Amino acid sequence: MALISTLKSSWFAFLVLNICISMAAASRVLNGKSMIERHEQWMVEHGKVYKDIAEKQHRLEIFKSNIEYIEAFNSGEHTFKLGANQFTDMTIEEFKAKYTGFRPSLSNNPLKTSSKYANVAEVPDSLNWTAKGAVTPVKNQGKCGSCWAFSTVATVEGINQITNKNLVSLSEQELVSCDTKTLIDGGCLGGMMDTAFEFIVSNGLTTEESYPYTASDSSCKNFTSVVHITGYEDVPQSNETALLNAVANQPVSIGLNADNLIHYHSGIVDAASCVVKRKTGLNHAVTAVGYGVENGKKYWLLKNQWGNKWGEAGYVKLERDSIFKEGTCGLALYASYPVMH
Ligand SMILES: *[C@@H]1O[C@H](CO)[C@@H](O)[C@H](O)[C@H]1NC(C)=O
Ligand SMILES: *[C@@H]1O[C@H](CO)[C@@H](O)[C@H](O)[C@H]1NC(C)=O
Ligand SMILES: *[C@@H]1O[C@H](CO)[C@@H](O)[C@H](O)[C@H]1NC(C)=O
Repeated sequence: MALISTLKSSWFAFLVLNICISMAAASRVLNGKSMIERHEQWMVEHGKVYKDIAEKQHRLEIFKSNIEYIEAFNSGEHTFKLGANQFTDMTIEEFKAKYTGFRPSLSNNPLKTSSKYANVAEVPDSLNWTAKGAVTPVKNQGKCGSCWAFSTVATVEGINQITNKNLVSLSEQELVSCDTKTLIDGGCLGGMMDTAFEFIVSNGLTTEESYPYTASDSSCKNFTSVVHITGYEDVPQSNETALLNAVANQPVSIGLNADNLIHYHSGIVDAASCVVKRKTGLNHAVTAVGYGVENGKKYWLLKNQWGNKWGEAGYVKLERDSIFKEGTCGLALYASYPVMH
């Protein structure tokens, strides 16, 4: 009797397990898709075309390993999620070579340390320059290392709106094509915001509409500048209080390391996931457009330029005031902003 009952219950267990497996198999067919199907669907969504079958097979392998990485990460406990985006068929090396472009190691310029916001008495608990109308829609640098031009232009757009109450989208291509004499700013090969600010002090900046972005190193066209700045300042390094004082007053250009941001989807990237100690470790530039607190965690709100399918509609949140004085992904190592008197 006892034996029969044991047999029965193990038979029952076998049945239940079997049903679970078939249900899982059924749902894989219903909701999930094979990796090949997911890759096909992703290709349509991101308008990807491969030159031949071999390339497609190679990209599928990378896609698969990235998806597996993303899903393993998301099944753990984290303050942020990863997800598929336009970079999911690329290795990190390919991605860095083409979609970033900040070159801090080339600059020998002494920092122009900030004086404008050295004595800010009080700042709001949270701030969002996008909600205040000082930020243009998210742009896309494409396959060109021009992040430096986008970060520069975004902060000039910001100070222009704050000063003149006029939000105008301005030209990155002017910087990519015309700011080429410093040997630091080199179009799609990369550049720096501070030298770009210097270029704008001398030449002004024209509109996006009159000098549209082509994501290429085309030769400099004649342009009529519509916005002028008188200078720029650097935020004291590794000091997030000083950075807060600046961001509370205007959008700020930020250098950071983007290696950990390729698969970013949403939430706050915690500082321990993205430790960068040196300025030479920075390879990308974005724009700090606000800050706040979410689920008890302080964050910086950063506007990127990888289109609005990446991250939180084109934005990323990084942990603020962590134990790492260099800031999450090194965001406090190289921050600067334009001055418009
Ligand atoms: C900032 O403001 C924009 C525009 O109102 C909004 O879409 C976005 O969600 C806000 N971001 C945060 C983090 O509050
Ligand atoms: C550039 O534009 C300015 C102002 O429109 C004009 O005066 C100048 O002749 C132009 N130069 C060239 C080389 O086209
Ligand atoms: C950081 O900046 C704040 C605000 O300017 C300043 O009061 C503070 O002394 C700075 N901290 C360090 C360690 O330099």
